[in-house]
Amino acid sequence: MSIWSPSSWREKPILQQPTYPNKDELNRVLSELKNYPPLVFAGEARSLKSQLANVANGEAFLLQGGDCAESFSEFHADNIRDSFKAMMQMAVVMTYAGGLPVVKVGRMAGQFAKPRSSDTETFDGVTLASYRGDIINGSEFTKTARVPDPERMIRAYNQASSTLNLLRAFATGGMADLNQVHQWTQDFAHQGEVTKKYEQLAEEIGKSLKFMEACGITSKTYKTLGETDFYTSHEALLLPYEEAFTRKDSLTDDWYDTSAHMLWIGDRTRQLDGAHVEFLKGVKNPIGVKAGPTMDPQDLIKLAHALNPENEAGRLNVIVRMGAGKVGDGLPNLIRAVEKEGLKVVWSCDPMHGNTIKSSNNYKTRPVDAILTEMKEFFQIHKAEGTHAGGVHLEMTGKNVTECIGGSFTVTEEDLSSRYHTHCDPRLNADQALELAFLIADSLKEAH
Ligand code: PEP
Ligand code: CO
Repeated sequence: MSIWSPSSWREKPILQQPTYPNKDELNRVLSELKNYPPLVFAGEARSLKSQLANVANGEAFLLQGGDCAESFSEFHADNIRDSFKAMMQMAVVMTYAGGLPVVKVGRMAGQFAKPRSSDTETFDGVTLASYRGDIINGSEFTKTARVPDPERMIRAYNQASSTLNLLRAFATGGMADLNQVHQWTQDFAHQGEVTKKYEQLAEEIGKSLKFMEACGITSKTYKTLGETDFYTSHEALLLPYEEAFTRKDSLTDDWYDTSAHMLWIGDRTRQLDGAHVEFLKGVKNPIGVKAGPTMDPQDLIKLAHALNPENEAGRLNVIVRMGAGKVGDGLPNLIRAVEKEGLKVVWSCDPMHGNTIKSSNNYKTRPVDAILTEMKEFFQIHKAEGTHAGGVHLEMTGKNVTECIGGSFTVTEEDLSSRYHTHCDPRLNADQALELAFLIADSLKEAH
């Protein structure tokens, strides 16, 4: 059997990688990155894993969300703050109305590399290399922008580092204090049904906090009322970058990918003998694997054994993304195979990637109805199988974008052009994300 090392993935077949024209330049950047401080500490990854073990046991719910792709041009404190607030709002709804603690993991501070369905893109008769995310090349439709540039990895690291710094400040510096529950509503929030429902819930929480304060329990005396744990995650797609941040933890002698707390493998790169599976086998972080409609139950079992040989609860998150109306075809067989084998996994639902369509005016979009439907189906199937619907994986932003159609404050096809800012896939806006949070809370209440 071959021995794992941070670079052993290099011996395996690999998909979805850029070809850097200048190898010397690439190697110079990688050796520089190897000397940069880690973004996260191994002990934090272990804390997340133990919280995810609670999710696997049905005692908590995982909320993973953020941009499809972070970008250099959208890098701004306001965007980070608004996504953080949107996730806090969702989490409080699920905790208060759904009755379970919520583990918060951002698709943030490192979500820069994108798998693409085609290596090239043709526009007006011109064919260029596809855009693969800001960590690799530029999205502008020019030949030069599309050339992979290793220097972008350094910029991505710096941006991830500042983003994480701000997230940590928000998580522990007062922004996450439950007394701020009213402040998490975005200024632009539409005064529709969902916002009203949220305001009502915030009122109730306010009353409970007042009562607790009278009993001497405040965010000053009881830390968990005033702070939260907020973790980061991204798809471990660009393996040279991930390798550079894979470090041996001095406390345990284990390897951790210190570019984020949690990493996942995409639906296009989950081949059992491929490079991405090889890489994530050897790091001890909690990890995810996407499961689209083509995931075969026996392949999932093999992947679970390869990625989680000790069957550790909290290590492996299966992120199911089948599409509304299709989840019933694929998921029950996956669940049954996993149960039969006695494997411990976190099941989460990505209701985004199986529901992407082209609008009649040519925007890549997702109907909110389909997203809500897939989420409901996911809960129903787990109920029928007697297993736990453990979490949700979302592309969302706290900004008032118009990228997904529908929702209680309806975004129409005609609206798509007004604030369509995503660098890759369409995201839920804050209103739409909150609507989904209420649906999840109802389903959680029903399930427990
Ligand atoms: C993604 O999460 O952005 C993604 C590309 O998903 P998938 O691998 O499931 O297609
Ligand atoms: Co996406």
